[in-house]
Amino acid sequence: MVDHRISLTRYLVEQQRVHGHIPSELRLLLEVVARACKRISYAVNKGELGDAMGSAGSENVQGEMQKKLDIIANETLIEANEWGGHLAAMASEEMEGIYIVPNRYPQGEYLLMFDPLDGSSNIDVNVSIGTIFSVLRKPEGHPGVHDADFLQPGNRQVAAGYCVYGPQTTLVLTVGDGGAMFTLDREQGSFILTRENVRTSEDTQEFAINMSNMRHWDAPVRRYIDECLAGAEGPRGKNFNMRWIASMVSDVHRILTRGGVFMYPWDKREPHKPGKLRLMYEANPMGSTPWAGSSSRRAAPPPTAGSASSTSSRASCMSA
Ligand code: AHG
Ligand code: MN
Ligand code: MN
Repeated sequence: MVDHRISLTRYLVEQQRVHGHIPSELRLLLEVVARACKRISYAVNKGELGDAMGSAGSENVQGEMQKKLDIIANETLIEANEWGGHLAAMASEEMEGIYIVPNRYPQGEYLLMFDPLDGSSNIDVNVSIGTIFSVLRKPEGHPGVHDADFLQPGNRQVAAGYCVYGPQTTLVLTVGDGGAMFTLDREQGSFILTRENVRTSEDTQEFAINMSNMRHWDAPVRRYIDECLAGAEGPRGKNFNMRWIASMVSDVHRILTRGGVFMYPWDKREPHKPGKLRLMYEANPMGSTPWAGSSSRRAAPPPTAGSASSTSSRASCMSA
């Protein structure tokens, strides 16, 4: 039987050849990222049968405990991407400094950033987790790669996306002209296009926030959530529902799919931090995917992405 489904490979070839949206180097780079996500998906699925559960006994640069799968996912992404010749360097939530492509491999023009495993606290309890990634062009005009080369605003991303490891493995990708969703066909071992030109519902009925932090929030955030909780009788005149998976990648995927708002706002526990989530590894790429129909060939800027001052700058809110 002829298979008329569109694979990720074919989708990317068409983005390059028919629509002229991406150069071949970027296409190949995205294929490699997707291949790494596939490997991570298989490791996640093995669960207790593999050697990927539990704590690694180490801390990352943010002072968070690392899980074994955080490290495995990080290594998988590095190993898959370092030799292809399309990248100059990578930066990850799980690494202290940038990872420059070793001299034994050719250096390319792109920079790759990732949160290898988002939602680490859910790994051991079999709840959806994911990988988030963002691609930038290395600035021209100087040899080598420096930390500062990564510090570009969200609207300079040339591609971004994420992969959710849930009941299905779903890859969502944008090269600047709307988001496309792919579902992993495990028998075939390939990602198949399942939704294109994804648009987020403009009508918001759901909010996602960790309510246990309510007493630490700033007054405007508390007032907004109070208004949502007041439902049809309150000032917003509408009943709202709440969901909190505690994997931003899955919470935002739900919002991208059916509308809503996701927030991890600043709070009084760590007043020196603008929020818990990382701008470059989490908010910029996640914020780029819902904006279909951008006239720009680049991933459109998320509402929170200003100019970045550090790869671990934080951002706090994303909405439909
Ligand atoms: P990570 O696992 O990459 O460190 O990110 C976890 C983040 C985010 O995915 C999630 O929304 C949030 O932490 C959950 O925080 P709480 O446990 O405080 O709810
Ligand atoms: Mn994360
Ligand atoms: Mn992470």
